[in-house]
Amino acid sequence: MDKFSITGPCRVMKGEVSISGSKNAALPILAATLLFDKTVIIENLPRVRDIDTMLNLLKSLGSNIQFLNNKKTVKITKTKKQKQFASYSIVKTMRAGILVLGPLVAKYHKSISSFPGGCVLNGNSGRPINLHLEALKKLGMKYEIKKGYIHAKSNGKLKGDKINFPSISVGASQQLLMSAVLAKGKTLLHNLACEPEIKDLTNFLISAGAKIKWIGKRTCQIIGVNSLKETKYTVMGDRIETGTFCVAATVAKGDLLIKNFDPKLIKTELNLLKKVGAKIKLFKNSIHVKGPERIKSIKNITTKEYPGFPTDLAPQFMVLLCKASGTSSITENIFQGRFLHAMELQRLGGKITIKNRTAKIEGNTNFIAAEVMSSDLRASAALVLAGIVSKGNTIVTRVYHCDRGYENFENKLKKIGVNIKRLK
Ligand code: EPZ
Repeated sequence: MDKFSITGPCRVMKGEVSISGSKNAALPILAATLLFDKTVIIENLPRVRDIDTMLNLLKSLGSNIQFLNNKKTVKITKTKKQKQFASYSIVKTMRAGILVLGPLVAKYHKSISSFPGGCVLNGNSGRPINLHLEALKKLGMKYEIKKGYIHAKSNGKLKGDKINFPSISVGASQQLLMSAVLAKGKTLLHNLACEPEIKDLTNFLISAGAKIKWIGKRTCQIIGVNSLKETKYTVMGDRIETGTFCVAATVAKGDLLIKNFDPKLIKTELNLLKKVGAKIKLFKNSIHVKGPERIKSIKNITTKEYPGFPTDLAPQFMVLLCKASGTSSITENIFQGRFLHAMELQRLGGKITIKNRTAKIEGNTNFIAAEVMSSDLRASAALVLAGIVSKGNTIVTRVYHCDRGYENFENKLKKIGVNIKRLK
């Protein structure tokens, strides 16, 4: 298993970073290609492990995948050998594998899909999919669970209905938006997640002739269509990668121009970075961040659904607040197991105490290098940030977590002055 070796602290972090396509927008868009008979071309795919996993899953379901030019563009066509079996061996490594369930039932009226895997972010409560299943049932999907697989079917087409999600779920929102596109009649979805990646999915489907209309902040109306047209779509930039590099510049007194991302989509995060002292200039599709000499503390940050502060940036902000001149805290409202990295930061000298869902961070930490272990994708990125501002040589293990969602991470960091290398 690969490791990163980082020698810090990074004295001069300076230059430009090109943000890759969004993993969390591309995954549902790729799953949605199962709804098509026609060819679909998707551009700006990040070359990360989760995308490879999703492409392998589509291939195992009979889709023909052709990479065009720089491997960041795929042309997906259907073959005569379409299958509806999503195997555990592929789906166990990535939670987004569950997103093929709805499209398969909507298109083929049947599916045998494995329960999902992916980051263990909810401790022993796992990553439930009850919101997906209950909502799909309302559209007419019948299912039973046998040996870790969901055996699902529908009597002909799914039927449109009114669905009000009892709680907000990104994945369940994506699942139902895709499934309603081919359902008979009108579907009204209430209490949807409204992350930019969800809007990217609906923009993609609309580009292929889907009749989707956002009629409220969290409400969408979908009128079913018989089929979707050929389309070519460019995936948006990665919001969490952008946030990660904005934090990197702030915590390491860096001076970065972060390109290919619309700053309007991360207002909450940028306001918090300004609050700790970062100097931020916004452009149409890039952000200039200059880290402060002194990082101010923030009394409390609470993670919320978009447009609130994203749980996926909580680990990175914890590193930043360890370096602040005073006590801060982060309250995690989305996942129970989001603080696994706190113990690893303590190994580097972080003074963090967890009580229920709140991490209290003492600040004024001089991180000293050590060996630390990644527990999930964003924790892994946070440990790399900590290594960048630690004195000495930090080894971050199990960086396969990082490879799931950060394209070319070490090379992008090297380019802006970080002394990092991958150890095989
Ligand atoms: C998506 O996960 C993202 N993953 C996560 O990013 C992100 O942290 C999360 O949304 C929240 O923003 C992808 O987009 C691939 P949820 P998802 O359904 O869809 C509970 C990363 O680092 N829930 O919004 O799984 C759930 O347990 C990843 O890129 C149910 O109870 O998140 C959680 O507590 C990590 N029942 C809460 O809702 C369900 O049926 C939010 O989960 C579904 C979810």
